Amino acid sequence: MIPTWPLFDDAEIEAVAAAVRTGKWWRGAYELPEGSRTEETSHAARFERLIADMHHARHGLVVNSGSMALDIAVRAAGLGPGDEVITTPYSYAATATCILQSGATPVFADINLDSWNLDVRSARAACTPRTRALIVVHFGGRPADMDSLLTLARERDLLIIEDAAHAFGASLNHQSVGTLGHLGCFSFQASKNISTGEGGAIVTNDDALAARCRSLHTAGRDPAGDWYAHDLLGWNARMTEFQAAIGLAQLRRFPAHAEQRERNARHLLATFAGVQGVIPQSEGAEITSHGRHLLCFRYDPDSWGGISHKRMFITLRTAGLPVLGGYGWPLYRNQVFTDPPAFAAQTLTVRHSPAEWAELCPNAETLCRTGFWIHHSVLLAAEEEIAELGHLLHRAHARFGARSRSNL
Ligand SMILES: Cc1ncc(COP(=O)(O)O)c(C=O)c1O
Repeated sequence: MIPTWPLFDDAEIEAVAAAVRTGKWWRGAYELPEGSRTEETSHAARFERLIADMHHARHGLVVNSGSMALDIAVRAAGLGPGDEVITTPYSYAATATCILQSGATPVFADINLDSWNLDVRSARAACTPRTRALIVVHFGGRPADMDSLLTLARERDLLIIEDAAHAFGASLNHQSVGTLGHLGCFSFQASKNISTGEGGAIVTNDDALAARCRSLHTAGRDPAGDWYAHDLLGWNARMTEFQAAIGLAQLRRFPAHAEQRERNARHLLATFAGVQGVIPQSEGAEITSHGRHLLCFRYDPDSWGGISHKRMFITLRTAGLPVLGGYGWPLYRNQVFTDPPAFAAQTLTVRHSPAEWAELCPNAETLCRTGFWIHHSVLLAAEEEIAELGHLLHRAHARFGARSRSNL
């Protein structure tokens, strides 16, 4: 049976109960200055330290969502009106709305059709003298081509924010994602590989950026200053002690889960390999650890009788394959980008219609018409079930191929 996600047992339940019993429901209860400081460490502080250590980062900070992690990263980096930030249109909205929120301009570059990640040639072509940063997504947990993106960043003096919402624990050439650029953002929302219900984290090796992120996540305070002194325009983005307690429990089961996902992903990819017209997201030799959040593939409509994405989805689901249809359209087609709020619209330095963006991002358009995802929880099923999924895909193609041939 495919496990329902999130997976938990008494460890998570006990962890939350224990956090409740402390009576200290927020990290400030452990950190209040003026005499109430204790020797104990909050769950949030322990969780963020373990996340930082696991990713070999000097600093970690837990926050209340992955979206907020991105928002804080963008503000900590000092991006704002007049700055252009290049990112992928094949992602979740927060990857690019965080740019709008700060008054900077999101500039969409195309993805690479093999990796599903930001294409360096397209990113390079999108650069202008106003370009200040790249927000790079490691889609599905597959690390992006950071070597070439870092080269571009060095050449242009750009900052890199990694949206590693899908890539907790992933690495490239043994270096953890999230620490390849300047700031790395994770999500612990319910669907993610480590879940706290809602939640996120930022990692960085940059002391100054870390200090700004920490201040921004707690109402712009100087952590060493007066509680009611606010230096920066920040929010309350603190993670609760209950979320962090669950996170600590989830972290303990992560290594075994990661191993099982990896084993089953390889098995599933091997069984998919022989199916005509099914093209998996590329793996990449330099990937030393894949996040395995989604197993992604696209179909070649010509090999499937020219059927539409919707019909292909129905065909696969009817065959018993637990696929997800993915994004129906690239980010730039959303109203928030075609008709942004006035405060953001007035500082945009690049504006294109969806048709113009589509011309610049043909691969993102293709993926929205042909891409499918399989959620990581499927990769936690028993080996026999994984093998059966491969057979189902083969049978679906054989049946569909026969049907489409008979219609000719
Ligand atoms: C690529 C990507 N970035 C950022 C986020 C935002 O994370 P959250 O839902 O925790 O706000 C998500 C969430 O699905 C995501 O998929």
